[in-house]
Amino acid sequence: METKILKIDSKKPQKSKINVAANIIKNSQLVAFPTETVYGLGANGLDKKAVKKIFIAKGRPQDNPLILHVCNQEQIKTLVKEIPIKAKKLMDKFWPGPLTIIFKKSKIVPKIITGNLNTVAIRMPKNKIALELIKESGYPLAAPSANLSGKPSPTSAKHVFDDLKGKIPLIMDGGKVEIGIESTVIDMTSKIPQILRPGKITKKRIEKIIGKIKKTAFLKTKKPKSPGMKYKHYSPKAKVIIINSLKEKKEIILKYPQKKIKFLKYESVIKMAKNMFNDFRLCDQKGYDIILVKEIKDKEFGFAIMDRLKKASGK
Ligand code: TXA
Ligand code: MG
Repeated sequence: METKILKIDSKKPQKSKINVAANIIKNSQLVAFPTETVYGLGANGLDKKAVKKIFIAKGRPQDNPLILHVCNQEQIKTLVKEIPIKAKKLMDKFWPGPLTIIFKKSKIVPKIITGNLNTVAIRMPKNKIALELIKESGYPLAAPSANLSGKPSPTSAKHVFDDLKGKIPLIMDGGKVEIGIESTVIDMTSKIPQILRPGKITKKRIEKIIGKIKKTAFLKTKKPKSPGMKYKHYSPKAKVIIINSLKEKKEIILKYPQKKIKFLKYESVIKMAKNMFNDFRLCDQKGYDIILVKEIKDKEFGFAIMDRLKKASGK
């Protein structure tokens, strides 16, 4: 299959281009599109046959559930059993934006979306191309990150093309994404809510709106609440090592004299989020064996970046 890349204006998406993409979705095919976090690989979320293609294209395990993307709050009413008051408060505060909320699912959500769970993850992305595409196709869009399973999430159309060329018909190219790290995922189905994946919307910001929540779930539980947490993630081919000091950097360079080593350093947490996955991919293209990244201690957004970094390092 030929994979077309369609350049589209992210501030004022051209209607004709949105229509091209929406028609592909209506035909049970896949379209990759930008969101504010990372690029997503979208299909009609109510069409089992279309959703199955996502798992095949990405090589994604079937028990790892997908997020449904909506373009307004109205659209979620038929997808969930109930909207808890606290969930509504989060929707009002953070949607559209990088927050995915887990609800109890309604009957119309196919089990293939939820990996057989009776809950469903939903978010409203803050990106005009994504919102227009959802609106025009008329369905909630199931969309995981548009990378091959296990690879770093794509932050540009080129990353998507590198991973999925020949496997999907269309990539909408709206330029580089704004944030660069996937959305925060919060489970609102239990009495005390819990973050299952940290992101740009931090625990502190959430607690300001709905009060105390549980400690963020960690990767290494035997039965993770979020199935995605048990899989290796975000990994470049090179070995990623997190370092704490320049002394440690020197030691590693001395220890591996034959290895090609790259040290990644960032000016700010925001820039680190925006560029890290891209840098991982560049390091692979340039044939580095080891990537060194300095640990960041920031407890807010930096916590989410460290989560991805730890996963990339295999921890
Ligand atoms: O920013 C994002 O969230 C991006 C963009 C494209 O929206 N999407 C994304 O999707 O990162 P994906 O499939 O790569 O990650 C979804 C995460 C996985 O860890 C999955 O296990 C979890 O959400 N998840 C989905 N449904 C769930 C559910 N019902 N219960 C618990 N975890 C769920
Ligand atoms: Mg992903």
